[in-house]
Amino acid sequence: MVMDHPTIHKPTSFPVAPNLGDWATSRENFDWSSIEGEIDFLPDGRLNVAYEAIDRHVAKGNGAKVAMHWEGKNGEKESYTYDDMRRQTNKFSNVLEGLGVENGERVFTFMERLPEIYFTFFGTLKAGCVIGPLFSAFGPDPVKDRMEASGATVLVTQPELRNKIADILPLLPDLKHIIVVNKGGRSSAPLAEGDLSFEELMAAASDADASLDTTRDSYSVMHFTSGTTGKPKGAVHRHNSVIQQYATGKWALDLHPDDIYWCTADPGWVTGTSYGMIAPWTNGVTQIIYEGGFSARKWYQILQDYNVTVWYTAPTAIRMLMKSGVELPKTFNTPNLRFMASVGEPLNPEGVIWGQEAFGLPFHDNWWQTETGAIMIANYNSMDIKPGSMGRPIPGIEAGIIDADGNPVPDGENGILAARPGWPSMFQVYWNDQERYDSRFKNGWYLTGDEAVRDSDGYFWFVGRSDDVINTAGHLVGPFEVESALLEHPAVAEAGVIGKPDPIAMEVVKAFVSLKDGYEASDELRRELMGFARKKLAAAVAPREIEIVDSLPKTRSGKIMRRLLKARELGLPEGDTSTLEDD
Ligand code: PRX
Repeated sequence: MVMDHPTIHKPTSFPVAPNLGDWATSRENFDWSSIEGEIDFLPDGRLNVAYEAIDRHVAKGNGAKVAMHWEGKNGEKESYTYDDMRRQTNKFSNVLEGLGVENGERVFTFMERLPEIYFTFFGTLKAGCVIGPLFSAFGPDPVKDRMEASGATVLVTQPELRNKIADILPLLPDLKHIIVVNKGGRSSAPLAEGDLSFEELMAAASDADASLDTTRDSYSVMHFTSGTTGKPKGAVHRHNSVIQQYATGKWALDLHPDDIYWCTADPGWVTGTSYGMIAPWTNGVTQIIYEGGFSARKWYQILQDYNVTVWYTAPTAIRMLMKSGVELPKTFNTPNLRFMASVGEPLNPEGVIWGQEAFGLPFHDNWWQTETGAIMIANYNSMDIKPGSMGRPIPGIEAGIIDADGNPVPDGENGILAARPGWPSMFQVYWNDQERYDSRFKNGWYLTGDEAVRDSDGYFWFVGRSDDVINTAGHLVGPFEVESALLEHPAVAEAGVIGKPDPIAMEVVKAFVSLKDGYEASDELRRELMGFARKKLAAAVAPREIEIVDSLPKTRSGKIMRRLLKARELGLPEGDTSTLEDD
């Protein structure tokens, strides 16, 4: 807990009255039914995320309002109203129906931030199918693992990304349809045999209302998340999650219908769907989608050009902005920017404070994860901020700090961050892995995998992960996935992967490998291994550093001791090594 920064008191006046008032009062006697009254359930107890995000605004007479301003990486600009979104998503739902894709089947996207990913996402949900968005920077291995595990029957992608994974596509027996989006005719290559053209399918499809045959409990979104062991698991949500996604968009991001909102997260990760799609559109705002990557100047330009009022980003981006100086943002005009929030990694107190210097507004940190589906702990608009703290639980959420037996620990002491099960956006299963799902619950608590501490004012402070999962630039990387990729190289006998602290990305992936007999350590081999891993995985996931060692520390049962590798790397005490294999 770094409590050496003074509290930033909430403003005495706000340009727009905050949606959530006093923390304690708003939690008293809270009942989710109060917020459910703001959601438009469909007849016969049906509930559909896409209807809540899009169609209901049209039904209420707001169809002409712009839902999305899109800016492409080549400077293209497109805008879509809520009614455009309704028609496009109906069309995609009808495309799926026309292809005979049935309720509950998994439809995956492997696409950049194109408008079509949004049509596909909500169209899939309208058809009652499960949508699984994949990070477009992934290489073939992560795509194969995830599609194989989910049994996805449809893949919606774009030409250059399809090329990148061409070799693994024939290895997916469940995959029936590959739909290719050729945005603006960017690609002149013909479609591969058997592939379907997104544009042709959509042109031929009816925009008549979709069946919306889903209830609260129907599965909706599947995001893969990494653990310490084994391959990533598909955490599956249900349509009911929309209740908390709507509520937290309103409370923690303080969204009001007149807002112009920009979420910088990629739809391949949960922030990009819960807060880059569902929360903003259920709250009826206008959203900015920028296809391109990070550039400090371009990002400030977007804030200025689109008159952004609410901005949700991440600590690595904030640290990169900080690097380019506090003067640069002041050369842009962002008079209506009124709320800034951050998620995904610990936000250093300096980042919170830098926001104030650069924009006159602090960044509001909040905490949640793939499994929680929506924000659980937040610094919201009408709260005093303690820089370095993740904030306090939102109404309806009970968070706690517990010990290994599931018993609460006193305030001020480190423990496992836990939440009482039953929040509306709680994940329902890890796809085909009940054992792993069950292992996340103990003594009436859901175990988050994070360690934290609560202070006497009820603020939560992040301490670290309680497992070996690496958080690099806000992306969770499972060491096992990286080790498996390295082991496929003929020279590698053993691999152990850790997160190495980094001033910008928080952690970078570092791998230790030992070689098979007959291979000699050399700089050339090290570089070859780096290239090999990058091609299979993705630059964001592949090791930034590889060290070739004679042997790796292992337990007597042969498990590589990553914690020991990390302690050695950091020059820290090695802790309990009694189970270490004798060499
Ligand atoms: O370790 C925590 C970290 O990111 C994890 C969740 O990652 P993921 O499932 O990919 O979900 C991303 C959407 C938030 C958490 O278990 N994390 C998230 N927010 C914070 C954080 N660590 C510190 N401070 C945060 N505010």
